[in-house]
Amino acid sequence: MHRARVAASVLRLVSVVGVVVLGHTAEASTKMQTQAFGKTAGGQAVTLYTLSNAKGMEAAIIDFGATVVSLKVPDRKKQAGDVVLGYDDVAGYENGKAYFGATIGRYGNRIAHGAFAIDGKTYHVPKNDGDNSLHGGVQGFNKRMWKAKDVSTSAGQALELTYVSKDGEEGYPGTLSVKVTYTLPADRNELRIDYSATTDKDTVLNLTNHSYFNLAGEGNGDILQHQLTLHASKFTPVDQTLIPTGELQPVANMPFDFTKAVAIGARINQDDQQLKFGRGYDHNWVLDRKPGSPISLVAEAYEPQTGRVLQVLTTEPGIQFYSGNFLDGTIHGKGGKVYGHRGAFCLETQHFPDSPNHANFPSTVLKPGARYSTRTIFRFSTR
Ligand code: BGC
Repeated sequence: MHRARVAASVLRLVSVVGVVVLGHTAEASTKMQTQAFGKTAGGQAVTLYTLSNAKGMEAAIIDFGATVVSLKVPDRKKQAGDVVLGYDDVAGYENGKAYFGATIGRYGNRIAHGAFAIDGKTYHVPKNDGDNSLHGGVQGFNKRMWKAKDVSTSAGQALELTYVSKDGEEGYPGTLSVKVTYTLPADRNELRIDYSATTDKDTVLNLTNHSYFNLAGEGNGDILQHQLTLHASKFTPVDQTLIPTGELQPVANMPFDFTKAVAIGARINQDDQQLKFGRGYDHNWVLDRKPGSPISLVAEAYEPQTGRVLQVLTTEPGIQFYSGNFLDGTIHGKGGKVYGHRGAFCLETQHFPDSPNHANFPSTVLKPGARYSTRTIFRFSTR
């Protein structure tokens, strides 16, 4: 008898005799795969964890940077394709400056002049983006080793990654214990990301995932034909260093209006000052969702050739839509593929950039005794 069938009948037998009930189906009990992914320059072993389900989705994640290395999802013809950019080896992730697939912290996006104050005390964080601090500094969470644990259940495979960031790391106050859990449900094609954290001193926190998507498949040309919808009627305009001015500006009649699906490339080269500052889209949209409301659908991208659809759901108030403007063909990614200009886009769910310096933005302060807890889902389907 075929091995899977044997496993299935054993399972059935086990549940019939009532010894242990392992799961709903034989598929759900398939184990997460682990394999060596190489070593960091400092000699730490990196492991690749591959989560899969019976619906044809596979998510590969490494403990270095709690990074999503690949996301394979079916197209309209049920052909699986990898829809995120990445590297073949640890060195790529260690030396790379693009943040492919990584968990970003402590502070996703920019902090102006690398400074902010909490409780009247000023803190300085690394200026690694001109005069500003970007994505947690020089050695952000994307460059750290996380501790991984398989927390799969019959509802889906799940990988929990934890990291303790020391008081003063990259200039941020407080010892911060962070947990990121990636779940691939057994019955639907989505990657759920649960973020949680506690601190022992007042600090600021803004975690996100920096996956670069190309729904036609990574390395398969630019993303200008993808149709994008953002459920956001305002955005936060920026200065030329991409720091918000503090205004919440309506998107109506601007190339920033994605309230109805429109091709990313349709207006990207318009003569617009904000687009010039970003060299394309590299802005935060103010999501039309009420603070504290349950997780909701905030963005959708559709790729007409493959029919792949990505929906983004989140509990966050903002999203950075970045159209891969700094990709310039110099990065050789997976399988040696060249990632050209606008070869991918990011939809980074987040609090607004530079919130610690804008009292009118939703607060990013985390206090001892409180728990930071957010959720984002990348959901895939076809049309
Ligand atoms: C930023 C871009 C930056 C990219 C990669 C995005 O989140 O907004 O300006 O180039 O990350 O670093």
